[in-house]
Amino acid sequence: MIVKGNLVDCTKEGTIRIRENNFLVIEDGIISKIYSQDELPDSLKNEEIEDYGDSLILPGLIDMHLHAPQFAFRGLGMDMELLDWLNTYTFPEEAKYKDIEYAKKAYKKFVDALAKSYSTRAIVFATLHTDSTILLMDMLEESGLKCFVGKVNMDRNSTDELIETTESSIDSTVKWLDICKDRYKNIKPIITPRFIPSCSDELMKALGNIRGDTYGLQSHLSENPKEVEWVKELCPDSDGYLDAYNKRGNLNKSKVDTVMAHCVYSDDKEIELLKEKNVYVAHCPQSNICLSSGIAPIRKFLDNGIKVGLGSDIAAGYSLNILNQAVEAIGLSKLYWRYIDKNSKSLELAEAFAIATRIPGSYFGKVGAFEEGFEADMLVINDEELNKDIDDIRKRFERFLYLSDECSLRAKYVSGQKTVTF
Ligand code: GUN
Ligand code: FE
Repeated sequence: MIVKGNLVDCTKEGTIRIRENNFLVIEDGIISKIYSQDELPDSLKNEEIEDYGDSLILPGLIDMHLHAPQFAFRGLGMDMELLDWLNTYTFPEEAKYKDIEYAKKAYKKFVDALAKSYSTRAIVFATLHTDSTILLMDMLEESGLKCFVGKVNMDRNSTDELIETTESSIDSTVKWLDICKDRYKNIKPIITPRFIPSCSDELMKALGNIRGDTYGLQSHLSENPKEVEWVKELCPDSDGYLDAYNKRGNLNKSKVDTVMAHCVYSDDKEIELLKEKNVYVAHCPQSNICLSSGIAPIRKFLDNGIKVGLGSDIAAGYSLNILNQAVEAIGLSKLYWRYIDKNSKSLELAEAFAIATRIPGSYFGKVGAFEEGFEADMLVINDEELNKDIDDIRKRFERFLYLSDECSLRAKYVSGQKTVTF
């Protein structure tokens, strides 16, 4: 397959790269060659070319952290901080996914919306219910998107409707992983202890063992001041929140890395451990605004070589559009500079683009840029209406990044496969 258009992606060095009227040659879902207009060999000129004319073509965006069962109440209940928000809105909604009929209806809306969004890949929390988690994974598989999905574990500090015993949490996780084996092409399971307050030490240790060197792990870290204080009380043995996960064996080396959402209150010691354990940080700016959580020190993470991606964190964040998160990440970094640290340079456009594409893409392999050997995740953008008076591609891209809600998709490909048509 050959696809032609104006390619905009991010280089390894983190700069924005623009290649006008270039041809992507794709074999078995992988980019095998990239040619400029003059370079296209005669032998390929007779091949069928999907010519997207003057459209921008971007790598698919990555949503590093979101909760599928919370999609149903997105945009509601933004009047509390994390712990009250969980008890008041989130746990009662997630309890409904015990009912597979409810799950079917609600997850269909979620999967349809994600398929139509600018994201090609996501790392997703389900609920603690095995059956509805499998249902969600089946639906995502069908959509063509590539995702990690976690059956959530929680055996303490929840409501009576949304809790497991330690034993049933461990057993159902083993059973769930067994069901997942050989079932999916696009979807992978990921170990998902909700966060330290939801999981006993015994459960955490068991999950570390189940993870072994095979599975990834996702959870929440240092999101909110009261939560951080609570974790200190719950884990007097530990030297910080991430160290509590570490001491319970959750961060032991595996083929698939760990993802921690938020990291708003990670201090220098925690940053060192994030780096040492090669943990990916899922930065969720909109969620951190909506739940008044705070401003994460993203500049420090990047300066320390920590891999950062963006998460919509539905439904603490309200928009599935990762470009809105990218814009808010820039905005929050400016407030961080203004109010917290005058030495902390705010994020540049190229960095915001990198944390939406190339950096989190590496969690999935060679993903998130247009280079030979990379998987062909492509967004073909219709920015005609917005940018009709602008010729410069860089300016078109910049404006699209801020105003993507005024644009639309012409086509979306995951590993060379066209997903939904528009
Ligand atoms: N910490 C534990 N659970 C959650 C959740 O569902 N959302 C957010 N934002 N933080 C959490
Ligand atoms: Fe979350």
